[in-house]
Amino acid sequence: MTVRASFPVRAPRFRFVQKEEDAQAIPRAWLGGSLYRTHRFNAFHMIFPHGEIYFLKSVNAFASRVTDPQLAADIRSFVGQEGRHGHEHNRVVELMRGQGYEVDRWITRFRSALDRSQEVLPASWHLAATAAGEHFTAVFARTALDGRMREYPAELERLFTWHAIEELEHKAVAFDVMRSVKIGYATRMVGLAIASYTLLSAWHNATLHLRKQDNLSAADLKTGERETRAKNDLSWREILRAAVQYARPGFHPNDDDDREVLNAALAQWAAVL
Ligand SMILES: [Fe+2]
Ligand SMILES: [Fe+2]
Repeated sequence: MTVRASFPVRAPRFRFVQKEEDAQAIPRAWLGGSLYRTHRFNAFHMIFPHGEIYFLKSVNAFASRVTDPQLAADIRSFVGQEGRHGHEHNRVVELMRGQGYEVDRWITRFRSALDRSQEVLPASWHLAATAAGEHFTAVFARTALDGRMREYPAELERLFTWHAIEELEHKAVAFDVMRSVKIGYATRMVGLAIASYTLLSAWHNATLHLRKQDNLSAADLKTGERETRAKNDLSWREILRAAVQYARPGFHPNDDDDREVLNAALAQWAAVL
């Protein structure tokens, strides 16, 4: 069997600048001047680094049981891509520390919860949770590449675009590993429940952790909520819709044909990734 080249592990260099006098500085309220909207996305920088480690550990735990050389090559690319994502989002976390945000208490709690779960729950559940998590990140990726990021500072738009492209490239790997080691529908649904709960609660809690530090008033919250809807920012409703889609017994990540959106994004961005 010929093994096609797996998707590439890119290593773009980003410059996340805090100094206000620098033209490329990323302000505290980098999304439309709204701290409310900004924190809903800053929360992802806090979730991703350890989330990515959880994903790659969960898939790697089954790598030795995968006999298909193509899937084995895809696992290596998957691990490479996720590792780089975590590394770069961590650099934005560093920027947030520089902006005066306390992030470490939340991140330490989140990391311990993920580590503890990996000690006590079966490996098959983690692989299933990762496969579901990858469906969510593919859905995020599609929403990110549909033009909603145009008002982001340039380096954050490039960071999320790079991440989104690679999420679409590797979206089926964890799912295919799960199928190849014969994990069935019941465990797949356990994984969906774990991934949905973890993602929604972590997103909500990390956002609140940041929002509290800015003491947003009731009026700020109301305006923020209104702007979030008006701008069509990513919402928990899209996650729930994605969960319903994933629960269909015959579902496969490639049911969503992303080639057009992926090729368009690559044509526009490849030179700077
Ligand atoms: Fe990722
Ligand atoms: Fe991923």
